[in-house]
Amino acid sequence: MSIVLEATDLTRHYEVGGGMFSPVRTLKALDGASFVLERGKTLAVVGESGCGKSTLARVITMIEPPTAGSFKIGGTEIAGASTETLKSMRARVQIVFQNPYGSLNPRQKIGHALEEPLLVNTKASQSERTEKAREMMVAVGLRPEHYDRYPHMFSGGQRQRIAIARALMLNPEILVLDEPVSALDVSIQAQVLNLLASLQEKFNLAYLFISHDLAVVKHIADTAMVMYLGHVVEQGAAKDLFSDPKHPYTKALLSATPQADPMAKRNRIVLQGELPSPLNPPSGCSFRTRCPIAQDYCATATPQLRRLKGVDVACHFAE
Ligand SMILES: Nc1ncnc2c1ncn2[C@@H]1O[C@H](COP(=O)(O)OP(=O)(O)O)[C@@H](O)[C@H]1O
Ligand SMILES: [Mg+2]
Repeated sequence: MSIVLEATDLTRHYEVGGGMFSPVRTLKALDGASFVLERGKTLAVVGESGCGKSTLARVITMIEPPTAGSFKIGGTEIAGASTETLKSMRARVQIVFQNPYGSLNPRQKIGHALEEPLLVNTKASQSERTEKAREMMVAVGLRPEHYDRYPHMFSGGQRQRIAIARALMLNPEILVLDEPVSALDVSIQAQVLNLLASLQEKFNLAYLFISHDLAVVKHIADTAMVMYLGHVVEQGAAKDLFSDPKHPYTKALLSATPQADPMAKRNRIVLQGELPSPLNPPSGCSFRTRCPIAQDYCATATPQLRRLKGVDVACHFAE
C-alpha cells in the first residue's frame, strides 16, 4: 500500500455576511475530515448537494487553502506551504468538473486546450506538446484528427473525455473527479466510468471520486467516505460500507438508489425534509433532525467517529 495523500482533520470554514445588517457568521463547509488516498485506488466521497464535497475538492487541488488541519502529498505538508511549494505540488493533483463546457474556451481548438498545461508548466517544445496532446486524445478514446476542432463540435461525453485528457497532461498522481458523470446520459455515464477505470490502471492514478449518486461509485470505489453538513459520518472499505451501512444517513442514501434485489426495498428509509442550513446546523448530531432513530441525547452530544464492525461511524446509536 502506497499512500499518495494523507489528510488529517482537514477543515475549510467560510466567513459569510458582514454586511450592514448581517453579522459575520462562520459556515463550516468542511469540518475535520481525515482520510488517505492510495496509489491506484479510488476513494468515493458521497453525500447530498451542499454537504461540502466540492469544498473538499477545491482544498485538495490547492485552489483554496484549508482553514485548519493538514494534508500531505507524497509526504510534503501542503497546509501553510510556500507559494513555491504549492506551485510544484499543483501539477500532481488535477481536477475534472461536472461540466467540462465551463472549463473549455469555446474559441480554442481542443488540441491547444490540451497543450495549455504543458505551455504554462513545462519547457516542452511545440512539437513535444502537440505529440503529447495527440497521444492523450487517443488514450481517452478520441481521434487525433479532432485536434483542430472546437468544443461545440463534441458531444457531452466527448467533452468530458477532453477534460479528462487535459487533467492528465501533466502526469498527475491524483485525479479529483467532482461529479464527473452527473451531467451525462446514463448510457454515456457507463462509457466514461469504464474509461476512468482503464486510465486508473494504465497510469496508476489515485482517484478522489465525488458523487451524490451512490449507484455511480458503488462499483468503482475501494474506500468510501460519507459526508453530511461538512462532517464525515461514515468511512471505510467500500465493500463493507455499501453492503452493510451503519449510519442511518448512509442507509438512507443507499435505499434511495435503485436495487436489483426487491427484498431490499422492505427496509427503505426515506430521507425526511431538507438539508438544514449549514449556517445554522442542528446542535449535537447534525443529522438528528432527519434521522429515524434519533433520541434526545443526540441533541446534546456530537457523535465522534468510532469503529464498528470494520468501519468508522459517527452515530451514538448505530449498531
Ligand atoms: N466560497 C464560499 N463562500 C461561502 N460559502 C460557501 C463557499 N463555497 C461553498 N460554500 C457553502 O459550503 C457548503 C458546502 O458546499 P459544497 O462544498 O459546494 O457542497 P457539495 O459539493 O457537497 O454540494 C454549502 O452550504 C455552500 O453554500
Ligand atoms: Mg459540489
